[in-house]
Amino acid sequence: MNVHALAKAHHLDEQTTAFAGDVIEGLSQHPKRLSPKYFYDAAGSELFEQITVLPEYYPTRTELGILRERAGEIAAVIPEGAALVEFGAGATTKVRLLLERCAFGAYVPVDISGDFIHAQAEVLSRDFPELAVYPVTADFTAPFALPDAVGAMPKVGFFPGSTLGNFEPHEASAFMRSAREILGPGAQMVIGVDLEKDERVLYDAYNDAAGVTARFNLNVMVRINRELGGNFDISGFTHRSIYNRERHRIEMHLISRKAQSVRVLGHTFSFRPGETIHTESSYKYSLDRFTALARGSGWSVRKSWTDAAGMFSVHVLVASE
Ligand code: AVI
Repeated sequence: MNVHALAKAHHLDEQTTAFAGDVIEGLSQHPKRLSPKYFYDAAGSELFEQITVLPEYYPTRTELGILRERAGEIAAVIPEGAALVEFGAGATTKVRLLLERCAFGAYVPVDISGDFIHAQAEVLSRDFPELAVYPVTADFTAPFALPDAVGAMPKVGFFPGSTLGNFEPHEASAFMRSAREILGPGAQMVIGVDLEKDERVLYDAYNDAAGVTARFNLNVMVRINRELGGNFDISGFTHRSIYNRERHRIEMHLISRKAQSVRVLGHTFSFRPGETIHTESSYKYSLDRFTALARGSGWSVRKSWTDAAGMFSVHVLVASE
């Protein structure tokens, strides 16, 4: 049965149908894979917030440190009254650092989860009563229109957290091009990018001792069971992250502990003992490779900063003519 027939038979809404299609396609591949975008249901988003404060997970606190230290310098290159367009919305801690220091005319958080950004917009409006907030519910990896109200304002994109790293290189380039298109000529973008570093540091950051990353990874199976009526035995899989040096990326996998089969929406997927599902890649850039990626996708690097240990980077990009 194709996914549309399945969707009809199981009364799936549009988003769940897309999820079902991707899961069935991903688990049919060799090696099996699942898209990292499905980690972020309510439980997954909460687990991710817990990851960001783990002692081993350096990216969030390092990026926050750079933003805190450099907010004044960022503010100096941003035109007054610009609209700040954030691609994807998580905790508001980072954007607050920019909103406090730069005289933005409007804030446009863009995320697929409408409920979440509307709740967030409300909190920010309370704390920044002068700021106009226009949430947009959209998949920010595809083209979307900015609200008319910000049409005449200069645009500044904001894409923190090295979310770019979770895109395959061709997707990263496509996203940067699309962001340039959406923001328009003359736009700038503030972007956080995680850097290549000692493999042990990377390994520990994605295999934390408390097992939070493991729960985050396994949660995608919990979600498949709940939303797609799957029958994954969660205890039959184990989490592992490995560094792939040739491809400059940390890979997260779910490894089958035994021979088993799993049913999802009438499809059966068999696993050999030790067989993996590749659930996420987190690419780590060098400053040169990131500059080349930006250049190749319609941006030039105006300013770059790293922390003293060179763990993480923040850049201000300008749309090339
Ligand atoms: C959201 N993203 C940038 C995180 C990362 O580091 O790639 C997701 C994550 N996966 C495991 N830990 C955190």
